[in-house]
Amino acid sequence: MIIEPRMRGFICLTAHPEGCEQNVKNQIAYIQSKGAISGAKKVLVIGASTGFGLASRITSAFGSDAATIGVFFEKPPLEGKTASPGWYNSAAFEKEAHKAGLYAKSINGDAFSNEIKRETLDLIKADLGQVDLVIYSLASPVRTNPNTGILHRSVLKPIGQTFTNKTVDFHTGNVSEVSIAPANEEDIANTVAVMGGEDWKMWMDALKAENLLAEGATTVAYSYIGPSLTEAVYRKGTIGRAKDDLEATAFTITDSLKDLGGKAYVSVNKALVTQASSAIPVIPLYISLLYKIMKAEGIHEGCIEQIQRLFKDRLYSGSDVPTDEKGRIRIDDWEMRDDVQAKVAQLWLEATTETLPAIGDLAGYKNDFLNLFGFAFEGVDYEADTSELVGIESIK
Ligand code: NAD
Ligand code: NA
Repeated sequence: MIIEPRMRGFICLTAHPEGCEQNVKNQIAYIQSKGAISGAKKVLVIGASTGFGLASRITSAFGSDAATIGVFFEKPPLEGKTASPGWYNSAAFEKEAHKAGLYAKSINGDAFSNEIKRETLDLIKADLGQVDLVIYSLASPVRTNPNTGILHRSVLKPIGQTFTNKTVDFHTGNVSEVSIAPANEEDIANTVAVMGGEDWKMWMDALKAENLLAEGATTVAYSYIGPSLTEAVYRKGTIGRAKDDLEATAFTITDSLKDLGGKAYVSVNKALVTQASSAIPVIPLYISLLYKIMKAEGIHEGCIEQIQRLFKDRLYSGSDVPTDEKGRIRIDDWEMRDDVQAKVAQLWLEATTETLPAIGDLAGYKNDFLNLFGFAFEGVDYEADTSELVGIESIK
């Protein structure tokens, strides 16, 4: 069938298999163009199908010839209905990895559940013995705690007072004011339960209990800080509480890995267009201004450039891993540069529906958003008939 983007709110209901394949191939080519990284050889990526997790899997496989197991939660295709993009990304990833002679298997299901953890532990045991790197890159609006059975829903709200600021509908370019009422204690606890560190710790405890972590194993989870402009809704809001919890969990996990000489890190990454970030009010306007400036300065990066730099210059540079005063790896360093932030703050004041097309990179935002679903890639014939029924080689 001919597959076109079908937008509804912050999501696109369709995904293009060949476009997703092109996306994966482009990321692989980027990693290969940057040369080898002496990184981990057996890698588990939790949240491996899109965004930073997919980039981490590609960087491990094609930068360090690593065997990878990817865990994700994606919709397979049905006759006449496309899969979710992470499905097609993972199908393409496995195809390319297998062609290159690399081990790659995937598990599709709820990573928060005991069942998917069990399946993953068994697969590591059977095929890899142990892993030496665990990337934790889940972004989810909900989590069922496997011990209590309680379903937690995360919210994106400020804490303490109503937050009012500008936002943009990136589909229409309309800039308007948005007001978000503050969270209550239950909202905060639920958001921490979904996006905090509890599940990361559960994964690491389970892996360690069954001796599936190699000597010196490393684990990395991803966080965000951002500027004062977005602070009320992001870092000082409910999601920020979850990130505080995630960052604190890194220390708890490091303690638990002492006897193995292992270490847990949080890497603070740059703001990027992903399915997760597009749903946060205010952030898309911030990103469209940020992109404009970072592109003009020649310091713009996407997920793959960010993760290549994380692996090459931070985690596996051959020297100590540089961290900030809170023990975090910072690859948001270029985003947070004073000159970049001063320019964004100025443009923020000027941003209206009328000015944004010129002062912001709305076109770049939209293009990146379409790219998430496999659309708007050069070299893909979107007029051609294509089959939606693409399988992932390791998934029966
Ligand atoms: P994303 O939506 O692109 O990826 C999320 C991944 O999690 C996908 O592989 C998805 O399949 C998987 N997933 C979701 N729920 C799952 C479940 N229940 N079981 C198994 N897999 C599940 O998100 P992203 O933007 O790459 O975010 C990854 C991490 O990076 C998050 O912690 C996010 O906060 C952080 N981060 C994002 C940004 C940004 O601007 N996008 C910036 C800094 C840090
Ligand atoms: Na991810």
